Amino acid sequence: MIKSAISFAALAMSFAGAVMASEAALERGASIYAEACASCHGADLSGEPDWQQRGADGRLPAPPHDETGHTWHHPDPILMAIIVHGTAAVVGGGYESNMPGFGEKYSDEELWDVLSWIKSQWPEDIRARQAEITQQAAP
Ligand code: HEC
Repeated sequence: MIKSAISFAALAMSFAGAVMASEAALERGASIYAEACASCHGADLSGEPDWQQRGADGRLPAPPHDETGHTWHHPDPILMAIIVHGTAAVVGGGYESNMPGFGEKYSDEELWDVLSWIKSQWPEDIRARQAEITQQAAP
């Protein structure tokens, strides 16, 4: 009980941190996004054309990260796992994906800044719904 209260407090703090990501953190996130993510997900977060249809290689194209995609349907821990380890590692079972992991190139903090920046581009209601999804997924 005490333990779960503590981890809930820690989680609540991390939400507060996410909501109040500093200007500097968002700027860092934006520049890493431009450098490492925009080539596939689009500088404007719009993803690849026909992103819902598998390509000739049988793999899914890069989805948009704006409100038209499904990034915001996932809780923070899943999004971070995908960004750090890549989709294939998260899905498992031999699933093949063109989404690489970035955990070797960037620190967790840097990748969290990227996610914070992506979220900062969402309309307020979408941001609130994704925060709720994250909360519901919490242990
Ligand atoms: C080489 C192209 C490529 C690059 C570069 C890339 N991605 Fe992806 N990303 C993809 C593809 C393709 C998918 C869909 C993978 C799948 O479902 O199999 C994806 C999926 C994702 C997802 C899951 C979205 C969802 O709705 O399920 C997230 C989050 C994500 N990428 C974040 C990032 C971030 C952040 C970066 C930069 C640090 C990045 N990606 C760089 C190709 C890329």
